[in-house]
Amino acid sequence: MTAPAPCIRIAGLGKTYPGQSLPALQAIDLDVAQGEFLALVGASGCGKSTLLRLIAGLEAPTSGGIWLNDVPVIGPGPERAVVFQDYSLYPWLTVMENVRFCRSLRVHTGNASDSQAASAVERSYALLDVMGLDAVRNHYPNQLSGGMRQRVAIARALMAQPRVLLMDEPFGALDAQTREVMHELILRLFEIERSTIVFVTHDVEEAVYLASRVVVLAPHPGRVDGVHALSLPPPGERHPDLKLAPELLQWKKIVLERIRATSGVQHDLDKLNRLAELSRRRTPT
Ligand SMILES: Nc1ncnc2c1ncn2[C@@H]1O[C@H](COP(=O)(O)OP(=O)(O)OP(=O)(O)O)[C@@H](O)[C@H]1O
Ligand SMILES: [Mg+2]
Repeated sequence: MTAPAPCIRIAGLGKTYPGQSLPALQAIDLDVAQGEFLALVGASGCGKSTLLRLIAGLEAPTSGGIWLNDVPVIGPGPERAVVFQDYSLYPWLTVMENVRFCRSLRVHTGNASDSQAASAVERSYALLDVMGLDAVRNHYPNQLSGGMRQRVAIARALMAQPRVLLMDEPFGALDAQTREVMHELILRLFEIERSTIVFVTHDVEEAVYLASRVVVLAPHPGRVDGVHALSLPPPGERHPDLKLAPELLQWKKIVLERIRATSGVQHDLDKLNRLAELSRRRTPT
């Protein structure tokens, strides 16, 4: 069987921010397949958000490049949608207006036909329905809980049927129970929409439960430590019970160990031990 053609190809990618001596990312080579659910994990500062912003076209690389279906990424585009941790909704627009915002711009600028506008209206209702936001479609963001706001942000990102959905710790600000609900929601949406998803998270269990491959990045400079193809059912066939299954816990352990090994935590423990030693030596007053 031949491997599916890569949807996103990243080759020799490097990024050094102005004024920084150390690259945020260095020599990244990575392919993401069409319809794949890929998770990016790694210690804080290893360049996860930078990599996502580069794929989104919100930052320009210093070296190497990114190709989306063989077309170089040189800026943002409607085939890529981004969901950030902080919801980033327009506070002066209602839920429905937020979801339809980009589409209404196109209608106003004459870039959408009447039938396209009508099907966009239908899609916005269907998305709000799936997201359980029907009853609050005329509410403003400040009247919603964090979980609801993030569902609006996801619905808005999905409105234009993006080929690639880029998510940067989308559930990071949510409580554990809401996050569990969101995991099931995103897996079902993944099945329906068939987008390619690149998902950044700090939560290793979330990464191994949602993704089919997990990329561990190492910091200083940001680089790929390893790519783990998980021997688990495909994301669309996963069920919450899997979170307690030995095979998932095994993957969680493997990924956690790599993050620990690359994060410099051991170095910090050495510092703590030294502090403890000094405290022990202190003569009582
Ligand atoms: N706009 C910027 N200007 C200068 N340096 C930056 C900028 N954005 C990020 N960096 C640096 O680049 C490196 C990677 O940052 P990035 O935000 O991509 O890491 P991250 O893995 O997303 O971290 P976290 O897990 O804390 O969100 C860090 O050293 C950070 O300080
Ligand atoms: Mg980040």
